[in-house]
Amino acid sequence: MKRTAVVTAGTGGIGLETALGLASAGFAVTVVGRNADRGARAVDRVNATRPAHPGRFRSADLASLDDVRLLADRIASDHAAAGEPLAVLVNNVGAMFADRQDRDGVEASFVVNHLSPYLLTELLLPTLTTGAPSRIVNVTSGAIGVAKRVFDAVEPPGGYYGFHWYGRAKLANLAYTLDLASRLDGTGVSVFAADPGGAATDMTSGTLTDPKIVSPALRLLWPLVRRKFERSTSGPASVAARPSIVAATDPALTGRTGAVIGAQTRPVAPFRAATDPRIAEAVRLLSERHAPLAAT
Ligand SMILES: NC(=O)c1ccc[n+]([C@@H]2O[C@H](COP(=O)([O-])OP(=O)(O)OC[C@H]3O[C@@H](n4cnc5c(N)ncnc54)[C@H](OP(=O)(O)O)[C@@H]3O)[C@@H](O)[C@H]2O)c1
Repeated sequence: MKRTAVVTAGTGGIGLETALGLASAGFAVTVVGRNADRGARAVDRVNATRPAHPGRFRSADLASLDDVRLLADRIASDHAAAGEPLAVLVNNVGAMFADRQDRDGVEASFVVNHLSPYLLTELLLPTLTTGAPSRIVNVTSGAIGVAKRVFDAVEPPGGYYGFHWYGRAKLANLAYTLDLASRLDGTGVSVFAADPGGAATDMTSGTLTDPKIVSPALRLLWPLVRRKFERSTSGPASVAARPSIVAATDPALTGRTGAVIGAQTRPVAPFRAATDPRIAEAVRLLSERHAPLAAT
C-alpha cells in the first residue's frame, strides 16, 4: 500500500535531504515550503531518483499559524479523499533570528520552532492515528543546552539573543515531543525527536556569524564560540538528515516511542530539562494559549 510522508521545510537544507531519504525508502513524499520555485526544484530532485511514488509540493509559510491550519486541513483532506495513510510527519522547520521579530504578536523563534510544529501535529493527529502505525519526528537541536528554562511566558526575561531564544523554543518542542509520546502510547503513533548535529545550510550560514545572537557573557568569548559554530556546522545536510530518516523508517524502532535519535543515528538520553513534567505542563499551557487549534 502507498504510504505517505510529509516533510516541513522540505525544499532545501536538511529537510530536502530527509525527503530524498524517505522517497528512496518507498514513501510518497510531500515537501512543504514557502517558495513555489524551490518547491518545484525539490520535487524534480525527488523525482530524478525514480522513486516508487512521485514527490509533491505544498506551499505554506510555517511562521504563520493561519497557514499551518490551512496546510493541516489540506493534508487531512488529501489523505481522506485518497484513502492513503499518513505514515510519517517530519516537523523539520526551524529558524533562528539575529534580531527580535514577532508573528501576530508572538516572538518569531517560538512560533517557528515550537508553536508551528505543535499546531501541525495536533491538527494531524486524527489523520496520523488513522494511518497507524505512523511516526512523528520532531527535529531538535544541541542549542537546547543554552536555553533559559523558564516557561511562564513565551519570552524569558532579559535581552534578546537569537541563539538562546532558538534553543529555548527547541527545548519547549522537545518537552512537548516527549510528553506527546506518553500521551499517544498505545495508539500506534510513535513520536521521536531527531538531532541533526549540524550542517552548512541557509539557516547556519545566515545567522551563526553574528556575535549578537549570543549572550554578553558568551560574546566575550566570540572567537572561540564562532570557531565552535563553524566546526559543528561544516558538514553536509545529507549527513545531518540521517537521524530524521532513521527515526522515520528504522524497523528497529518499531513499537518504540519517545526516543531521541542523536546525530550518530542512535538513541541518546534526552536532555534532562525536557523530561521535567513542570516544563512540559508550562509548555502545554503556552501552546494552547498561543496556538489554538481553531483560529480565534
Ligand atoms: N543546520 C544545522 O546545523 C542545524 C543544527 C541543529 C538543528 N537544525 C534544525 O534542522 C532543521 C532544518 O534546518 P536547516 O539548517 O536545514 O534549515 P534551513 O537551511 O533554513 O532550511 C531551509 C528550508 O526551510 C524552509 N523554510 C524556512 N522557513 C520556512 C517557513 N517559515 N515556512 C516554510 N518553510 C520554511 C525553506 O523553504 P522556503 O525558503 O521555500 O520557504 C527550505 O525548504 C531545523 O529545525 C533546524 O532548527 C539544524
